[in-house]
Amino acid sequence: MFDDLPREHFAFLPTPLHRLKNLGESIGLNNLWIKRDDQTGAAFGGNKTRKLEFVVGDAKANKADTLVTVGGIQSNHCRQTAAVAASMGMRCILLLAGEEPENYSGNVLLNRFLGAEMKFFPDDAPMMLNNRLDEIMNTLIEFGLTPYAIPAGAAYPVGVVPYAAAMQEVKTQFDEHYTLPKKIILATGTGGTQAGLIIGAHMLDLDVEIIGITVSRSAEESEEKVKHLIERTIDAYPEIRTFKPKISIDDTFIGKGYGKLDDGVVSAIEMFAKTDGIILDPVYTAKAGLALLRMALAGDISADSPTLFYHTGGQPALFSYSELG
Ligand SMILES: Cc1ncc(COP(=O)(O)O)c(C=O)c1O
Repeated sequence: MFDDLPREHFAFLPTPLHRLKNLGESIGLNNLWIKRDDQTGAAFGGNKTRKLEFVVGDAKANKADTLVTVGGIQSNHCRQTAAVAASMGMRCILLLAGEEPENYSGNVLLNRFLGAEMKFFPDDAPMMLNNRLDEIMNTLIEFGLTPYAIPAGAAYPVGVVPYAAAMQEVKTQFDEHYTLPKKIILATGTGGTQAGLIIGAHMLDLDVEIIGITVSRSAEESEEKVKHLIERTIDAYPEIRTFKPKISIDDTFIGKGYGKLDDGVVSAIEMFAKTDGIILDPVYTAKAGLALLRMALAGDISADSPTLFYHTGGQPALFSYSELG
């Protein structure tokens, strides 16, 4: 799938797919699986490394020598971009929303080790920083660089197709076990991962519900984002037949807001860790994990139905939460 697109191969693929036997037993699911995109490589991995294979392929095809991207202070996307830039011999410039921290920790600390140049914007929300990309690109060109701008979360068609291809990977792995997932549960932020999986399921004609657990935006807003990304990706790649996507978003696990801790988030982190040794992150995957636990306990997932928890990474952010210690 999408074999002809420019791509650099640095992610550890395929990522493992395995059973969550103990967690499944404790919440009454006999057929619970996890896909480990927290193991994609690039400085602790995560879903953005998979996207970056195509993004950097496109950047190299455009002769770029510098990757420029944006995100929140503890952005996993920015940290993985910094790691990939380092390994590809490219410069990396990160625009981060928020105050420069007095003591660097988590992803910010890793960005520094990875040699990325960080610029902090205390008054901007992460998505607003997308608007600053043009301005900084012009400045970098004046300095003689050839920059490539990656929007927040790599949420544009080049960053969506890698997750359509990931669906092919998931199918191939499940085929070996003579089964296929009926539900996939994952954390949704900018929506690109979910959009890609939905496109992949469509291209492979799979009957699977892909449930995005939004970590900050309302279900309505997230659905609109995913829908728009799917439409843009269909327009960009004619090999995707037009279709009317079914987009499932659950916004009941946002809790106190983006990146904010609450009892539910902490209990999900503990439950996954103590049953199966899986570490979730507080911003994204713990909310998706909490959703899985609640859905199973409420009987919304039937006991024998193959269910996939899609781990998208993010663990380095855990080490910026000193209040958890
Ligand atoms: C760990 C983790 N999970 C999930 C997501 C959400 O992915 P997407 O932006 O493709 O919706 C992100 C995005 O930053 C992330 O860092």
